[in-house]
Formats: sequence, structure tokens, C-alpha cells
Amino acid sequence: MIEQLAVAVLGANGRMGAEAVKAVEAAADLKLVAALGRKDSLDALVDAGARIVVDLTVPGSTEANVRFAVEHGMHAVVGTTGWDAGRLGRLEELLAGQSGVGVLIAPNFALGSVLASAFAAKASRYFESVEIIELHHPEKVDAPSGTAVRTAQLISAERQAAGLPASPDATTSGRPGARGCDVDGVRVHSVRLRGLVAHQEVLLGGPGEQLTLRHDSFDRASFMPGVLLGVRNIASHPGLTVGLDGYLDLGL
Ligand SMILES: NC(=O)c1ccc[n+]([C@@H]2O[C@H](COP(=O)([O-])OP(=O)(O)OC[C@H]3O[C@@H](n4cnc5c(N)ncnc54)[C@H](OP(=O)(O)O)[C@@H]3O)[C@@H](O)[C@H]2O)c1
Repeated sequence: MIEQLAVAVLGANGRMGAEAVKAVEAAADLKLVAALGRKDSLDALVDAGARIVVDLTVPGSTEANVRFAVEHGMHAVVGTTGWDAGRLGRLEELLAGQSGVGVLIAPNFALGSVLASAFAAKASRYFESVEIIELHHPEKVDAPSGTAVRTAQLISAERQAAGLPASPDATTSGRPGARGCDVDGVRVHSVRLRGLVAHQEVLLGGPGEQLTLRHDSFDRASFMPGVLLGVRNIASHPGLTVGLDGYLDLGL
């Protein structure tokens, strides 16, 4: 008989949470022990014997939820946005006193997206120019997307390590926004269009050639293999991990 991991989902009535509930229920090696919404007490996690908490809630709730989980010795797999440097710093302090407990903060659970960002960063040291275009549905409230910011940061770190200069750009005049925004020296352009879900292109340019790395999420189901990968591997990753790439053997 398979020993099942006891998993709880927070934000279970939300769009992502409902998908996660279905994904956990469908996995033979996982057991859904709690599916909580905003009005439920976190004490239910303890009562249900949860070992791993999946947080897919809202930026205003996620820090308290994760804190509760860690303080009670539970691992947390987190997809909720809003984890800025201050929150991450406080979480690291908390985790320092809870040996063996792991937290994964994953700005993007889509495996293809995580891989595309990692490939783009690695490729960017071999090209003179790099720019990012992210394209999303018009209900999205933040721009650029968290994934685009993270991709730009990975690219920037890779190029700095290789001693590369900034991408060439002779622009001296233009309308505000025409060149997108600057994230750690990488230009990011945000498109909001009815009909889209979540898409990103990294354009890499060299003399006479272009490499485009594109990823498309067509449905929230695209995030679930990454959520399950996080749940299955978190016990062997104590401490804080930011980004699902930390759980993938990319060999880059
Ligand atoms: N990492 C990724 O790959 C990824 C992908 C997509 C989205 N996201 C992020 O995931 C989060 C959820 O997205 P979504 O589209 O599912 O949002 P959503 O549909 O608004 O769902 C959020 C849910 O969380 C519930 N909630 C709020 N506070 C809670 C608490 N303290 N305990 C339990 N549940 C609570 C809300 O309940 P009420 O309805 O009662 O307010 C709502 O049902 C967002 O931050 C989003 O940006 C991440």
C-alpha cells in the first residue's frame, strides 16, 4: 500500500485552489485532509493532521498562513503572489528556528514557463540583445508579471556574471513607455489583451540571427504538475526555496 502524504489546500474555493483540490484528490500518493476557505480557522490544519499546506490565497493572507504552517512543523508550497523581500526575510528568520521544515515560494508553477526562463537566462550570455514580452488577460492587475520580473532578474544575473554590457539601444527620444520598463537592465514589455491567458516571449538577438523562447499557459491546469512536484519534493528541501527551478535538475 502507498503511504499517502497528508495535504491541505488553502484558498480551496478560488480558481487555483479548486484546481489544486482536484489535482491532489486525483493523485494516488496524496491524501487531501483539508480544503479551507477564508472563513475557516487554520486550527483545522492541525486537527486534520496536515503535513503539507498548499497556499493559493491572496497576498493579504499568505504570510500569516505560511507562518502558521511553519510554526506547527508543516511544509508549505506557496503560489500566492506578494512575497517581497521583507516577507521573505521574515520567513527565513522563522525557518531558521524550525529545522527540517521546507517552504517553496513559486511565482510560477507551470513547468514549461520555469524551464523557458532558465533556458533564456542561460542563452542570454551568448546574445548581444535580450528583451522580454509578457502577454496576459486584461483582468491582471500587476505589470509586468512576476514571471517576467523573475526572468529578467535571472537573465541580468547571468549576463553580469559573464561580464556582458547592456543590450544595445540608441534611443534618445520617444514616448513614455515605448521601450517598456527596465528590470535590472532588461527591457520588459507588457501586453494586456482579451482572449489571452498567460504568455511570455524572450527575444534574444545576435548579428543576423534571433532566438525566441516562448511559453503559453492556456489553462490553470498547466500549473498543477508544478504544484504536485512541489508537494512531493518539499520534505527533501528544508528551508526556503524561491522558484520551482530550485526543485528541477536543470544541469545548467
Ligand atoms: N504560482 C503560480 O503559478 C500562480 C498561477 C496563477 C495564480 N497565482 C496566484 O495564486 C493566488 C490565487 O489565485 P486565484 O486566481 O486562485 O485567486 P482567487 O480565485 O481570487 O482565489 C483566492 C482564494 O483565496 C481565498 N482566501 C483568501 N484568504 C484566505 C485565507 N486566509 N484562507 C483561505 N483562503 C483564503 C479567497 O476566498 P474569498 O473568495 O472568500 O475571498 C479565494 O477563494 C493569487 O495570488 C495569484 O496571483 C499563482
